[in-house]
Amino acid sequence: MDNTEELKALFYEVRQCTQCPLHKTRTKAVFGNGLPDSPIMLIGEAPGYDEDQTGKAFVGRSGQLLDKILQACNFHRRKHVFIGNILKCRPPKNRNPEPEEVQTCLPYLMKQIELINPKILVTLGAVPVKTLVDKDFKITRQHGEWMQLEDRWLLPTFHPSALLRNPALKRDAWSDFQKVVEKYQELVDPEHKIKS
Ligand code: URA
Repeated sequence: MDNTEELKALFYEVRQCTQCPLHKTRTKAVFGNGLPDSPIMLIGEAPGYDEDQTGKAFVGRSGQLLDKILQACNFHRRKHVFIGNILKCRPPKNRNPEPEEVQTCLPYLMKQIELINPKILVTLGAVPVKTLVDKDFKITRQHGEWMQLEDRWLLPTFHPSALLRNPALKRDAWSDFQKVVEKYQELVDPEHKIKS
């Protein structure tokens, strides 16, 4: 099924959304970026300053680190991944999302997952995995453990901003992403190689 028109319609809905107070303080809503049929979907928390200014997901410092990790996995934004967030609008001063904001915005993400239909979801940081799978999830202890979201595989890992604050976590994050590569080889492309 060609999902392009439906995704485009959802994009315009998100860009004009006024369902929660965050629309009053945002510059641009951030729908997410990537191919409409990406096999992998990365899910962050909420847009930050740079994302709010540009309308694009993960373009600030965290995004640059995420791009390096993706490159090391031989994944590319235009080919393998769609990158989105739990919240489409930036919370003022990057404060944590309020539960009501998450509940109001969540149907947009669920619709994106349904339309893009990725085989693999990778959640970045605690907020998305707590929202989608288990409110008691402990990222430090449980990152890198495969979970299910309905019939999809979901791997929780650290948010790139946590890796910037604490570079000692990079080794764990790298081993999580290697699991993503293995799952991609198993489910999508057995020929996918990473540079050694
Ligand atoms: N942090 C996020 O969680 N999402 C973005 O898009 C940027 C930074």
